[in-house]
Amino acid sequence: MRTTSPVPPPDAYPAAAETGGAAARRYHARHGSVLPAIDPAAGSTAPKHHPGVPVLPLPFPPVLPSLPGGPAPAAAAERLGALLALLNGVTRVDWTGAGVGAGRPVPSGGGSYPGEVYVATASGLCHYLPSAHALELLDSADLRAEVVRALGRPPLDPPETVLLITSRVDANLARYGPFGHRLQALDTGVLAGQALTLLESAGTTPTAHAVFADEELGRLLGLDATAERVHAVVVAGASGAITPAAPLLCRRTARSGFEPAAVPLPALLSVLAEAAGPISMDHAAPVDCALYVVAHRITGLEPGCHRRDERTGALIPVTDGSTPRHLFPPNGPGERAGFEAACAVLVTGDYESGYPRHGDRWYRMLNLRAGVIGQRIGLAAARAGLGAGLRCDVDIRAADAVLGTHPHRTTLLAVLLGHERGSGTPAFSLLRASGPP
Ligand SMILES: Cc1cc2nc3c(=O)[nH]c(=O)nc-3n(C[C@H](O)[C@H](O)[C@H](O)COP(=O)(O)O)c2cc1C
Repeated sequence: MRTTSPVPPPDAYPAAAETGGAAARRYHARHGSVLPAIDPAAGSTAPKHHPGVPVLPLPFPPVLPSLPGGPAPAAAAERLGALLALLNGVTRVDWTGAGVGAGRPVPSGGGSYPGEVYVATASGLCHYLPSAHALELLDSADLRAEVVRALGRPPLDPPETVLLITSRVDANLARYGPFGHRLQALDTGVLAGQALTLLESAGTTPTAHAVFADEELGRLLGLDATAERVHAVVVAGASGAITPAAPLLCRRTARSGFEPAAVPLPALLSVLAEAAGPISMDHAAPVDCALYVVAHRITGLEPGCHRRDERTGALIPVTDGSTPRHLFPPNGPGERAGFEAACAVLVTGDYESGYPRHGDRWYRMLNLRAGVIGQRIGLAAARAGLGAGLRCDVDIRAADAVLGTHPHRTTLLAVLLGHERGSGTPAFSLLRASGPP
């Protein structure tokens, strides 16, 4: 009997072959721009592990330099352990209404954590196990040069630090359906942004790469492309110890909601300025991810939608009459959070600007950029003493109507800002500061 291989549906993601943006457009129209019926009862798939390979424990609890000028952790294993813990580790215990949970330094859509982190070092290629704070040794050879060869724009000097960020393809699909693929690109953008922040704090000039030979990197990591794919590679030169600023240690989602109280305009402007800085990536975006603010309770700013001017940082009125609440479907959790929040920051982008140059890959690249900006807003809000909540459950059509932009610019991610209600969710840090007790 003759068998034929199944034909993937035309809106399948990721597309089987490069189509110059046509497949990405179809996916976005059908799944990526449509708020899915989220199944909150559906779980996420288990994190990756490699049974049978050697497991190398990292110093626990992860050690961080405590005070400016205080002694930095000396051993390379401690430095690497601190980097990985603050990137994707289990760094706190949260007491939530749903019980005790493991908290991470980065946010993740629905707490699915589809991202996995691999590190290529002089002593080998390893996969990071967040819950065990340990490395799985996959290959004892130094594969950094091979990783670099697969990059579209390799760095001029051989990098010391090479982090590969992957995404498990089915990690969040049970809960979000095919929309989960776009969420995964946002999520891995958050991780790439966190890696850039951490490596910059260690005195390096890191770069996040989104253009590379996927198959080659997948082969080096031993990935089954139907189950896990490389989304980003972050490289940097020799680094000192990471010196995390306080917001890195206390960032978390304002899970208890917001006090319906006003936020002063300068605090909002400082968050936006931090979020809008240049992103160190291997490609220039043809059109930037512009930031918009839908204000509700900002002292000194009229309610309504404002665009942040990239040159001056000023907020220019765009449309009036809208509040963050109008960005979410009625009667859902987003509507209430939107009502309480002082404002919503909308991270926007233009899909059409990148398809001619990058093809379908641009879809992931643009959402990855939005994830980097979302990660920065979370940290900047913590620095400003504000609560923040990244939201993918905005009604994109409603949000785009408020933006009043030309048809191609669309909402990629929303972040609600405000004063977190009460004292927030109780949490216990699992990190240890170095230096004198
Ligand atoms: C891309 C992205 C989208 C998110 N969307 C939502 C959302 O729509 N609604 C929500 O309540 N939380 C959302 N979150 C926040 C996560 O639920 C939260 O990060 C996760 O539960 C972990 O908690 P933590 O941020 O306090 O560490 C999102 C996070 C990310 C990174």
